[in-house]
Amino acid sequence: MLSLQKIIITHFKNYEISSFSFDKSVVGICGLNGKGKTNLLDAIYYCCFTKSYFPGSDALNIHFNQEGFRIESSFLLNDKPHQIVVINRVNSKKEFYLNQSPYEKLSHHIGLLPAVIVAPDDIDIINGSSEGRRKYMDTMMSQLDIDYLQSLILYNKILIQRNSLLKNLAVNKIIDNGLLDVLDSQLVIPARIIFNKRKVFLEKLIPLIVEFYNKIAENDENLIPYYESKLAKNNYEELLSINRQKDMALQRTSDGIHRDDLLFELNHQVFKNIASQGQKKSLLFAMKLAEYEMIKSSKGFPPMLLLDDVFEKLDDNRIINLLDWVCNKNTGQVFITDTHKERLVNTFNRLNADGQIIEL
Ligand SMILES: Nc1ncnc2c1ncn2[C@@H]1O[C@H](COP(=O)(O)OP(=O)(O)OP(=O)(O)O)[C@@H](O)[C@H]1O
Ligand SMILES: [Mg+2]
Repeated sequence: MLSLQKIIITHFKNYEISSFSFDKSVVGICGLNGKGKTNLLDAIYYCCFTKSYFPGSDALNIHFNQEGFRIESSFLLNDKPHQIVVINRVNSKKEFYLNQSPYEKLSHHIGLLPAVIVAPDDIDIINGSSEGRRKYMDTMMSQLDIDYLQSLILYNKILIQRNSLLKNLAVNKIIDNGLLDVLDSQLVIPARIIFNKRKVFLEKLIPLIVEFYNKIAENDENLIPYYESKLAKNNYEELLSINRQKDMALQRTSDGIHRDDLLFELNHQVFKNIASQGQKKSLLFAMKLAEYEMIKSSKGFPPMLLLDDVFEKLDDNRIINLLDWVCNKNTGQVFITDTHKERLVNTFNRLNADGQIIEL
């Protein structure tokens, strides 16, 4: 079992110094626009993932005109206290402590305190480019499989080296196949590991997404998710050598697991081209709940669930369906933000959930 009991936020985004204690498993956070609801969820997310959910540099997370931020939080994991301290000062390396001990590598923390977040712009995972869908897969799988995360870190490192070599060669008009051969043979190793792990993982995830989708949408639309990867039908080493001329011209690596995608068909057409707003939202929630379920079954306890502005996204019935599943059929801790306190209180009452309300 995992729960957050307390968090003290200092100079993080709009917070100067604030302390919050949580004593229930369902926590409603309310406040007007700009009050810091999303930022509070992000501070929690930070403690789980060693970084913000939102893109951009850490400097943006420091309260205007301050020297740095600090987040201190107390979690209970299987009845044992886990204290996290994050210190991020301008121009110095981020410090991250678990029970007073610094981590040698931040990646070692990933997966200890699992969490799933649903944020307002997450609909981009469906509408946007493949990058968001890879991030979805990577965030989930990294929490469950340390080898996956380490392979991904290695792959990205070699990919950067390969791309900068391609650029260098083009700028200086040199052809150095030797060095490219070395990088290619290095890149193939983590690429194969990642491809195989994604394939196996998605075989379990995809049926869950379909099941949740049909439940949320309350119908039997024919949703077909599938994994797309060039590595499925090609030997990656051969592919790299076939692509070499093209890659040199483009000055980047055109194929690899950094181009993989998780695609969706609805009634045999491309989902994002034909789905309605509501169908897209249903799919987003289905993906997030499938993620929740995968983590829960793998870890043996549910991850924390951070729901930002879900009321703006779904109609009343869907909200009740969703929250009923989240609050009553699960034992995990849930944080839900809303601008309307009334709506939170009413929803908790309708669900018979023993919730705590925090007003910002
Ligand atoms: N580095 C920073 N320093 C100071 N304030 C910041 C910083 N970064 C963001 N903010 C402020 O945080 C506020 C936004 O907070 P947040 O997004 O958490 O609000 P919210 O309660 O979720 O609002 P909404 O209901 O609109 O989603 C904005 O006023 C923004 O200017
Ligand atoms: Mg917000």
